[in-house]
Amino acid sequence: MTDDRARAVRYDEFLGAITRRFVGAVVAAASVAPGEVVVDLGAGLGRLGWAAHLAGATAILVEQSPDMLEAARARHPELRAVCAAGEALPFADRSIDAVVAGFFLNHLDDPAAGLAEIRRVLKPGGRLAATVWADRLAARHNSVIVEAVAAVHPEAVSARPPSDAGAGPRMLAAIAAAGFADAQAELLAATTRVWSAAHLLEGTRTTTWDNAALIEAVPPARAGALEAEVRRLVEPYRDGPGFELPASAVLLTARRPG
Ligand SMILES: C[S@@+](CC[C@H](N)C(=O)[O-])C[C@H]1O[C@@H](n2cnc3c(N)ncnc32)[C@H](O)[C@@H]1O
Repeated sequence: MTDDRARAVRYDEFLGAITRRFVGAVVAAASVAPGEVVVDLGAGLGRLGWAAHLAGATAILVEQSPDMLEAARARHPELRAVCAAGEALPFADRSIDAVVAGFFLNHLDDPAAGLAEIRRVLKPGGRLAATVWADRLAARHNSVIVEAVAAVHPEAVSARPPSDAGAGPRMLAAIAAAGFADAQAELLAATTRVWSAAHLLEGTRTTTWDNAALIEAVPPARAGALEAEVRRLVEPYRDGPGFELPASAVLLTARRPG
């Protein structure tokens, strides 16, 4: 099983190389202004927080994984970094100007509780800008893995339904239900290059969470069948020496009513 220490080392080889492309859009959508306090929730290596810092804000990284947090601290020693769960933020009510959250909401077991906590810490009028993966055909780097595992070892998918599926509409509804105003969703279209089925499998296994667990649930005897199924599913995206897979995000924005 890939642990977070290994994941932090390799994150940029695959997942981080995709998520970094949305940093500018998220920080711009949060309308970060100099002097504001901005929390990067589920910060990973802290890229959103670092961008907010460069925009002049006081950025605070929040991560529940000590290993990811340590890697973020090593990259960005200038930033305050806190080991905490998004469901129990160590901040006072109405103290934060904006929360940015890259591919974090879809990790929550109870998104309503997590969103209530974000709302609690935001100042009236404070902004939330978050990304989740787009739907199946727009986020093929993700859905190909789920579908391939479902084809060769369906028990893994039924035992652990992928948390990313349909996250955009589900999270938009959850944000509105949590009492935010102006909840909106926007597609951020992107693609990512993978060189082979093995590249997609290895990148996913070493740098993701839920889909890595799906791959690791496949018995070794079915590994060849899994790679063959991934090869079949990526074939429509062949482009020169590799494959250009849709890897789009949904940008979710809202504000705490003022
Ligand atoms: C997919 S990564 C995204 C990292 C980064 N925001 C990015 O866009 O690349 C999700 C991160 O959220 C963290 N995470 C998951 N559940 C969390 C929770 N309940 N509270 C705090 N962090 C959490 C994970 O440890 C992981 O680093």
